[in-house]
Amino acid sequence: MALHISDDKLSEIRNAADIVDMVSARVFLKKAGKDFVGLCPFHAEKTPSFTVSAGKQIFHCFGCGAGGDIFNFLMKYDGISFPEAVQAVARQYGIAMPEKDMSPQQKKQVSEREHLLALNRRVMAFYRDMLLKDPKGAAARQYLKQRKMNREMIEQFSLGFAPPGWDNLIRFLRKYRVPLEMAEKAGLIVPKKQRGYYDRFRNRIIFPIVDVTGQVVAFGGRVMDDAKPKYLNSPETPVYHKGRTLYGIHAAREKCRSQGCVFIVEGYFDLLAMHQHGLKNSVATLGTALTRDHIRRLSRAVGSGDKKAYLVFDSDEAGINAAKRTIGAFLEESMEAAVVLLPKGYDPDSYLFEQGPGAFDKLAQSAPSLFAFLIDSAIAAHGLTVEGKVRIIGEIAPVLAEIADSVARSLYVRHLAESIGVDEAAVLEKVRENRMKASARSERAPKTSGSGGDAPQRADAQKIPEDRLEKQVVAMMIQNPEVLPEIRERGILAYFEDAQLRELAEWICRVMDREAGTASDLFNSVEDEKHRQLLASLMMEDVCWAQDSCSLLLSQFIQCRQRKQTDLLQQIRAAEKSNDQELLIKLLSKKQKQAVERG
Ligand code: GTP
Ligand code: MN
Repeated sequence: MALHISDDKLSEIRNAADIVDMVSARVFLKKAGKDFVGLCPFHAEKTPSFTVSAGKQIFHCFGCGAGGDIFNFLMKYDGISFPEAVQAVARQYGIAMPEKDMSPQQKKQVSEREHLLALNRRVMAFYRDMLLKDPKGAAARQYLKQRKMNREMIEQFSLGFAPPGWDNLIRFLRKYRVPLEMAEKAGLIVPKKQRGYYDRFRNRIIFPIVDVTGQVVAFGGRVMDDAKPKYLNSPETPVYHKGRTLYGIHAAREKCRSQGCVFIVEGYFDLLAMHQHGLKNSVATLGTALTRDHIRRLSRAVGSGDKKAYLVFDSDEAGINAAKRTIGAFLEESMEAAVVLLPKGYDPDSYLFEQGPGAFDKLAQSAPSLFAFLIDSAIAAHGLTVEGKVRIIGEIAPVLAEIADSVARSLYVRHLAESIGVDEAAVLEKVRENRMKASARSERAPKTSGSGGDAPQRADAQKIPEDRLEKQVVAMMIQNPEVLPEIRERGILAYFEDAQLRELAEWICRVMDREAGTASDLFNSVEDEKHRQLLASLMMEDVCWAQDSCSLLLSQFIQCRQRKQTDLLQQIRAAEKSNDQELLIKLLSKKQKQAVERG
């Protein structure tokens, strides 16, 4: 995509912004020497290989190869385009973005996202005023009082009220000349069959859904009586993806980090009750099953050390069934998972208000691991008769089959075997069967591209070039552009054997020629994902080059390559002598190739 945002503007934004700040909001980072490290948000890992350099303002993952600058990070993490990322950083640091710098298509893209977020923020204020100030809000204020929500929670979570009637919001939007198509796109109003729109949320308590960085991305609404549906949520919009969003994450982040653990509850009021009782390291899933993506984002936000998630369930079947499928994801994110099962008839909200946080704490203290819990509930459901055991294994083996780590898998197999008193080999056999079925399935299934949905996101680790010397030369070119003329004069690039590195080096020569800039300016022009990742990885290498050591390295490099060539000639002679035709042909074509490359 051509960039119409001027380089000056980009540099201004880049200079004002801090990549460590922007990443920290989403991924817990620890200082490690000059850099910061954390668990990579782009692939599953247990030890941090995701590195952010404050000095160079870039990130690079030594595990999956992802890398780039602040904009690339946001693009990848939030799934947004380059101009949207630029706009997001500019907004964060209070830099005005002249839209004239953008192409019409970019303008549309940028402004859509920005406008949706701005609109949501405005609408949140509208609902809040209705709740706190408007006479129409009296019943809602009464309802929240009856639900024992205190002022602090109401304010912190910006609760609101959508008054009864079909067009309260629409009238508000008209008054401020907000295009209704925009409000429709935000999911706030719904088109009528004939013509016009009506308010989606009517006569409901409103819960704004705020993402980890504080943006208002969606709304939920609850009726105040027994009307159906009890809850209504915004549909998916360009700024709202329910599989990624956890209610309350913004308010929970700090405490999650300091405690190293998080409570995951199911409902809005449950979440508010947790926070109101001081359990501020709580988030809610809002009627969707906990996805792998949820777990990864949560795990990254919580920290890189030991961490634990408590799944808090009322004895409701659906939630527990869904939890089964998350064992693998928790393992992959090296997050311990335990289950807090509330006594029958309670949910976190009613339990906390009736029994108090002390009682809740006790339950949490004795919470069984997710796996132990699954076994226990299977035993409770099927009993320990022979048929019961067969059913239990049938139910849990597929779950175990999905665990990628073989050590963990075999430990779980033993755990299950011991818990129900059967032979380990029998369980193992069943798990193997399931693994075979699963791999047959995945071979048949068409390869899907992209990283959407709940599918495990395998990192497409690009091949990181091996050649030490060539890497050093390119790193030097990046950090010491003064060396470029020498590179050209001595025809260094022709000696490169790694095609990827040579391509990058050639590209650097071209770009630096055009606009003699600094290394970070390189990111303004890099459009090829492969180049960007390689660039970031090379920039991460810390080498300080004095002018003479540059020349020295180049001489070494040439010598080394020439030696290789001499070796080749010797091999050719040897092959001629021993009359090994096959080898000879191979060697000659290698030589031919080198000659062509040297041009
Ligand atoms: P209260 O009854 O107000 O205490 O809410 P709750 O959270 O205890 O309700 P419940 O346990 O029934 O539901 C848990 C969560 O599932 C809710 O907070 C909602 O996010 C979601 N949910 C429940 N009912 C509905 C519904 O009718 N529609 C939708 N879209 N979501 C619902
Ligand atoms: Mn409830």
